[in-house]
Amino acid sequence: MSPLPVRDDLKDLHPYGAPQIDVPVRLNTNENPYPPSPRLRQAVADAVAEAAATLNRYPDRDAVELRKDLADYLGHGLTAAQIWAANGSNEVIQQLLQAFGGPGRRALGFEPGYSMHSLIARVTCTGWVAADRDEHFGLDPRRAARVIRDTGPSLVFLTSPNNPTGTAAPLPLIEAICDTAPGLVVIDEAYAEFAREGTPSALTLLPRYPHLVVTRTMSKAFALAGARIGYLAAAPEVIGKLLLVRLPYHLSAVTQAVARAALAHAAERRAGRAGRLAPAARAGRGGLRRELRAVRRVRVPARGLAAAARPRRPRPGGRAAALAAGHGGDAGGDGGLPLRPG
Ligand SMILES: Cc1ncc(COP(=O)(O)O)c(C=O)c1O
Repeated sequence: MSPLPVRDDLKDLHPYGAPQIDVPVRLNTNENPYPPSPRLRQAVADAVAEAAATLNRYPDRDAVELRKDLADYLGHGLTAAQIWAANGSNEVIQQLLQAFGGPGRRALGFEPGYSMHSLIARVTCTGWVAADRDEHFGLDPRRAARVIRDTGPSLVFLTSPNNPTGTAAPLPLIEAICDTAPGLVVIDEAYAEFAREGTPSALTLLPRYPHLVVTRTMSKAFALAGARIGYLAAAPEVIGKLLLVRLPYHLSAVTQAVARAALAHAAERRAGRAGRLAPAARAGRGGLRRELRAVRRVRVPARGLAAAARPRRPRPGGRAAALAAGHGGDAGGDGGLPLRPG
């Protein structure tokens, strides 16, 4: 039989495959270990039962009511027109790359970072520029601006707090990137709810930067990874372009109902076990950091959401080298938007 005529650029690619292991704390996929509360489960069940009554109809294509609820949850004076939702923030990222990346274009990310940014870039035929973080996993605004100027990416990805290092991006860094980037700047705030108190969100910069996009998810802080709900906040013009690439009815009526039920219980969630995870995680990482510091030749940044380490100069086969091996990922009317041609 002749080989399957798969695209040449996919031939050497392996599917995303973080192992799904049956253990209480799944660090490799960063899942919230606490299930939704009994009250939320009941609210979800009621919402799904109500949605079931009209499953003969397609869902609201534009998920307007959900987007209103998400805007209220985020605050910052945001409205539904500035919010977009999809099946997990991975799909949001894919839609951004489909609309603003593509053949002949490239996206830039700072590594180590979230591995799916580069993988989704690849499957959307977008070139990938891997820029380095410094030895403390931070980024100097001038160096970040220089690499953006030198490479001219259509999209810049920055995760804050970062997965896997936990480092949060200060606003002056995001401002320097927004001031320099010729295309979209995507701040992935999947872990925003776990950030240290007082850590400002990139949402505060949205009024100043029409090419800024902030992505969020209900997978982590809401403990809803199984429901697949991600969203973004951006200028309405950006969202207008995402409508060109989204599949019709991409977000099921059941998903929209589950998300709205969870948002209605957001206050209870914050007070409950899933909500208490953030302070618990912050307390727990102190001990982990102490352990990591005991490993010779490993540098551990003083601050950060997660405890991450990188070898000073790894020796082949050493413990520091083993740690380093694991740090690469999961542990017209358009306002001048750089939409892909065609
Ligand atoms: C930084 C970051 N962004 C996005 C995601 C994807 O989340 P979702 O479940 O919303 O697709 C993850 C998941 O681990 C993540 O770590």
